[in-house]
Amino acid sequence: MIPKVRKAVFPAAGLGTRFLPATKAMPKEMLPLVDKPLIQYGIEESIASGLNQIVIVTGRGKAAIEDHFDVSFELENLLEKRGKTEVLAQLRAISDMIDVAYVRQKEALGLGHAVLRAKELIGPEPFAVVLSDDVIKSEVPCLEQLIRVYQYFGTPVLALMEVPPDQAKFYGVVDAEPAEFNGAEGDGRLFRIRNLVEKPKPGDAPSNLAIVGRYILTPEIFGALEATQPGSGGEIQLTDGLKHLLQSRPIYGYRFEGKRYDAGDKLGFLKATVEFALDRQDLGAGFGDYLRSLKF
Ligand code: G1P
Repeated sequence: MIPKVRKAVFPAAGLGTRFLPATKAMPKEMLPLVDKPLIQYGIEESIASGLNQIVIVTGRGKAAIEDHFDVSFELENLLEKRGKTEVLAQLRAISDMIDVAYVRQKEALGLGHAVLRAKELIGPEPFAVVLSDDVIKSEVPCLEQLIRVYQYFGTPVLALMEVPPDQAKFYGVVDAEPAEFNGAEGDGRLFRIRNLVEKPKPGDAPSNLAIVGRYILTPEIFGALEATQPGSGGEIQLTDGLKHLLQSRPIYGYRFEGKRYDAGDKLGFLKATVEFALDRQDLGAGFGDYLRSLKF
């Protein structure tokens, strides 16, 4: 029996240097996309994919994240007195739906190091990793798409996306061959990974398939990460840990259906803000009229 995925790890101890000065005193995970912090999109995707045990790996200056997912008695009291039942229900829904645990990453030593910090809280179970600055809009939640593949093979599955050659240097890039799923030819989305390279130098990218911030991992990744030396940027990279794991386990990649926004980047964040606002029932029409009225 392939064990069920129930837990999701959110690395959130990074310094957010791509978004300074906004992130000097505020965690980048709390930047609001329309009216919800970035991390909440990832948490809602996890819940929609059946994962409600959340582990957030935090660092210094990240208290706002803990407060956000906690109950605010004063605020709830005030909203109740003022009869703001809809906002109140929204606030309660998120803290009621998840069970959050926090673990501290004392130094920002890399994504692989952050994931390793969750080892004790995850235990001997498969789990997801969600990078909150990758916000994904899709019909079927991206994590659910990956979990379907995981449930068939029982081995790690990474979200993949095609990127233009000049963008490869910003990602982990895979060398992969098309794979079959459910004994059928597949939908052209599934790949078996042959190799992985974190932030390849120009000309070194093995393909145009980049890793996006959604992973389904098995607990063997912890041993692999413990054996991983610092790589790109002098940090312990998750991609390098996966490369290590590949020696003993198959790893799959799934070119997910949906659109990903790099909300940790200023331009990507603006694009996501515009598109998410246009999609909103309460804001879309008015915001669309405003955008059309701009002369540029
Ligand atoms: C991280 C990963 C990288 C992945 C990317 C996706 O990089 O290390 O492999 O492609 O997320 O967003 P970062 O963006 O944190 O530098």
